[in-house]
Amino acid sequence: MTHAVKKAELHCHIEGAASAALVLAQAEKYNSDISGFISEQQYVWSSFTEFLAAYDGAAALFRSAEDYALLARTYLQSIAAENAIYAEIFVSPDHAAAAGLSSEAYFEGLAEGIAQAKASSGIECRMIIVGIRHLGPEKVEAAARLASTRPHPLITGFGMAGEERFGKVADFARAFDIARDAGLGITIHAGELAGPESVRDALDHVRPARIGHGVRASEDGALTRRIAEAGVVLEVCPGSNLALGLYPDIGKHPFDQLRRAGVKVTLSSDDPPHFRSSVGREYQMAADAWGYDTADLTSITRTAIKAAFVDEQTRSNLLGQLD
Ligand code: ADE
Ligand code: ZN
Repeated sequence: MTHAVKKAELHCHIEGAASAALVLAQAEKYNSDISGFISEQQYVWSSFTEFLAAYDGAAALFRSAEDYALLARTYLQSIAAENAIYAEIFVSPDHAAAAGLSSEAYFEGLAEGIAQAKASSGIECRMIIVGIRHLGPEKVEAAARLASTRPHPLITGFGMAGEERFGKVADFARAFDIARDAGLGITIHAGELAGPESVRDALDHVRPARIGHGVRASEDGALTRRIAEAGVVLEVCPGSNLALGLYPDIGKHPFDQLRRAGVKVTLSSDDPPHFRSSVGREYQMAADAWGYDTADLTSITRTAIKAAFVDEQTRSNLLGQLD
């Protein structure tokens, strides 16, 4: 039922989008042992900390511009096959540096893969540079300074990922000021591993246009109203939230509750193979759980495209594809 629905994904970490099969091929290429986090063609981890280690382990196997072109192309083509017309990917110069790759080669490789996927499928894509919270404010500020130089035309946003329980949001405010002053779209992971107070801090100190996850704001009525009134868009990733144990089953997930409260909600996959998901599966889960029809799902795509970090010409082209 949902296959034909045009989709848009605002929240996907490119290193987290590497399929187990692709990581196995990379491990053979670099003669590396991945048995600590992949077994029988599946990622294996059993806590958020172990998940981050598996994520880092996979990222360490992408070491050249060509490796990243392959990763971006294969990921984007896979979601174009699910009728995704637009995607934003989080890119992490810190992960590239850890694998010995310069940020220039990293962005060039990713941009090459994005161009190849666009040529073969039509999918449009932009990149959001993220700082990694648990690496500390200095590293996140360095990522923001890099982003503020606008190192590639497809880089249109700045965000922060990583361990939300590390440090205080206020310590990262300067990084976001640098990125905002450079005209980048702003998003921040909050309200995933930590509760409503973390979302409130993000709103107060970062003033984001969008929040990654944000679902735990649903525990606080006043905060939910604030988000709805401010028009802040939530990049919701239900499959990720279930896999990481935030909610026991989709029936307990607050996506529909937030939507009914007037919050602008969108659907994304976060780190799809880690959570055995994809943007197509997220749309299907939402349809199954809450009875959404094609019009409901298309309106979620429209919300995402309206919130996309793209130029107005591209936005209007994408919106035109929904009519
Ligand atoms: N990095 C990759 N996936 C993440 C998530 N779900 N939360 C925080 N940081 C991440
Ligand atoms: Zn994320």
